[in-house]
Formats: sequence, structure tokens, C-alpha cells
Amino acid sequence: MTMYDIIEKKKNKNTLTKEEISLFVNGYVNNEIPDYQVASLLMAIVLNGMNDEEVTNLTLAMANSGDKMEYNFKAVDKHSTGGVGDKTTLIVAPIVASLGCKVAKMSGKGLGFTGGTIDKLESIPGFRVQLSEDEFIHQINEINIALISQTKNIAPADKKIYALRDVTATVDSIPLIASSIMSKKIASGASNLVLDVKVGTGAFMKNVEDAKELATTMVNIGKNANINTLAILSNMNQPLGNNIGNILEVKEAIEVLEGNGPTDLKELSIELASYMVSLFKNISYDLAKNQVVEALENKQALNKFYQLVSSQGGNLEKITFNPKYEYKIYSKKEGYLTKMNTEEIGKIASLLGAGRMTKDDIIDYEAGIILNKKINDYVKENDLLATLYTNKEVDLTDNYLHAIEINNKSTENKLILGVIK
Ligand code: URA
Repeated sequence: MTMYDIIEKKKNKNTLTKEEISLFVNGYVNNEIPDYQVASLLMAIVLNGMNDEEVTNLTLAMANSGDKMEYNFKAVDKHSTGGVGDKTTLIVAPIVASLGCKVAKMSGKGLGFTGGTIDKLESIPGFRVQLSEDEFIHQINEINIALISQTKNIAPADKKIYALRDVTATVDSIPLIASSIMSKKIASGASNLVLDVKVGTGAFMKNVEDAKELATTMVNIGKNANINTLAILSNMNQPLGNNIGNILEVKEAIEVLEGNGPTDLKELSIELASYMVSLFKNISYDLAKNQVVEALENKQALNKFYQLVSSQGGNLEKITFNPKYEYKIYSKKEGYLTKMNTEEIGKIASLLGAGRMTKDDIIDYEAGIILNKKINDYVKENDLLATLYTNKEVDLTDNYLHAIEINNKSTENKLILGVIK
């Protein structure tokens, strides 16, 4: 069997065997198969799909392509498929750790229009996202939680394949997205996993049907790999919470941990944390939710966050926020805010300096957006819609006005769109 035969087989809509999938994944990582052949196979997968067994075999081959984390304890993890304003990790990880669950989390940096947890943590002066493996494990044993940036060589096959997908229009394929995400989770040693699959204008999945299929595929892969896995489908037709940008998002996460903050962010955080506790402790969702709400009310989650920050060298008191430029955006129309092009708003935040357009861009932690009006808010002429903060001289007011729609009727806007077990 050669790579040519494998491409031919998938082109003709046939099922690839475990050996064929391993041959392509290992051959690519070892530089024995050229980019053009892998790109051709990826396109055949995009067009003709993969069945559950093929997706699981692809995931395992990628998970086994590099280092694998192993712990002498069970941990619980969460993963979001990527969104704008999503700072839930900063909230749910301390909540569940304060309830006795172990969180050993390796997160990524943001790229494109979505933010990354590591950038948000690095906006806290002194916060060390690079702990040694010993420090990482020791901290989890001591305080139940550590959040670090991925240092080990986790799923190198995914890294190489993802880079190729990015330039060959082969990103938007459910089997390829599901195997990419789950290979990293398997290699990171997760034993309980809650997935937050985003749906809408700021997500890979633009409609609920596709999101359900992606969620079901990932839950099946998780189960096949002996990970307790569950997925929530959540709305990304608008940014989550009111703040976008690294320092602004840290501040908003603290507001929620203090018992305040925007309703959507609070509701999704409680939902994710409740499922994480329920999986980790093997208790009902209702019982877990009572514990989560109490951990927020009695501030034990907030204190766990403070403990996490100080254990990793961060100093919240040293955060300063004095961006040079502030652009206030006022409405030119009256009516209900009915649409937010969330991907576009994420790109505006990146252009202000909050994110990276290429992987070597330097982030401005102060840059970002505060949203004053969100979907279904009634807006009058000259009402403040949003404020843009930046240290660059870039006026993106018109871009923001183009990214939203104001109409005379409100629209449906549910936050949680389903749970896949
Ligand atoms: N996130 C990933 O890690 N991989 C994908 O393919 C898409 C989103």
C-alpha cells in the first residue's frame, strides 16, 4: 500500500484501515510523505468524509505521534472550539478546583479572531505560564490546579497537518476538526472532558446541525479512548460577556468570580463547571450545580483563583489599564440590535492589538473592546454601542458599525443549544 493508493481509495469513497491511516500520519511526521500528497488526501477526506472508526483511528495515530502526559491522579479538563470573549477557563477552572476536582490544563495562544487563555494569563504581570513538569504536577497536588502553556511535544502530527489544512482550504471538515482537537486532549492525559462546541457567526460551526455532528463525533472519540466526555453546544452569535481583549477579559472573569458580571458569561460558566464536577465526582448534574453555585457565592472559587495566580507568580495589583486611544461608538439608528458578526468583531479586537493576525505578532494586553449593547438590547440614536481601546492609531469605528445590525424586531437568542452525552 502506497500513499498514492490511500489517496485513490478515499477519492473513491472507500474506508481507510487503521494501518493505512497510521502509514499516512507517521509518514508525514517523519517527512517521508510530501505535503502535496497529504494535501490531496485531506481534500478527499473533506469531500468524502470518514466513518467513526476511521476518525478514531486518525485521532489515535495523531495522539500517539509525540509525547503523552500521564498523571497519578484523575483530572478534569474543558475545551472550547474557539470563540470571541470566551474567558470561561479563568472562571470554571478555579470553581471546580475549589470543589476538590483536579485541573491539569495546558492551553494555547490565540490566533486569528479567537483569543487564547495563555495570552489572558500572560496579561497578569509576573504570571508564569511555563512551569516545568515537576512544578506543574506539584502545584496540582498542592492546590488542585495549574494552567500552563503547552511545552511538551503534544500531537506533532496535528500541528503539521493543521498548518497544511490552513493553507489548502481543508480546515472546515468535521472528521478533521474532531480528530485534531481530540488528539491533543488524549495526548494531554485528560480523563474527564467537557467540550464547549460553539455555534454561530463567531464559530467554525455556523449552524446547530453541524455543531451537533461535530460534538457527537468528539464525544464518540472520547468514549472510544476511555475519556468521560460530554459536549455542550453554546451560542457564538455574539461575543461572550461584555469584554474582549486580554486585561479586559481577566477583569471580567474576576467580576464573575466575585458574584457579578454579565449574565451570559455567568450562565455558561456555571453550566460548564457543573458538568465538569458531575463527571469528575460521578454525581448528578443537579447536585454538582448546587456545589458550583455555592462555591461562587461563598467566594471559595474567587480565593482559588487568587491562589492560582500567586502560585504561578502573578500579581493582580500590578495590572494597569491606560490605553492611549479610546474610540466610543454611537448608534446612528434606533431599534433592536439583532445581529453581531462575531468573527468580524474578533478581527477588530485583533487589529486593535488584542490578538495575532500571524503567529509572531506581539499582543497589546490593554487593547480590546467593551460592548455596551448586545443582541436584543433596544438601542436609541446616539446610544453608546461599544468602546474600542488601543495603543495604536487605528480607527475601526466604521468596521464595528458594519459588523452589527439594528432592526425593528427582536430575534431568538438562546445561550445553551444542546448537550451531547
Ligand atoms: N481547533 C483545533 O485544534 N483544530 C481544528 O481543526 C479546529 C479547531
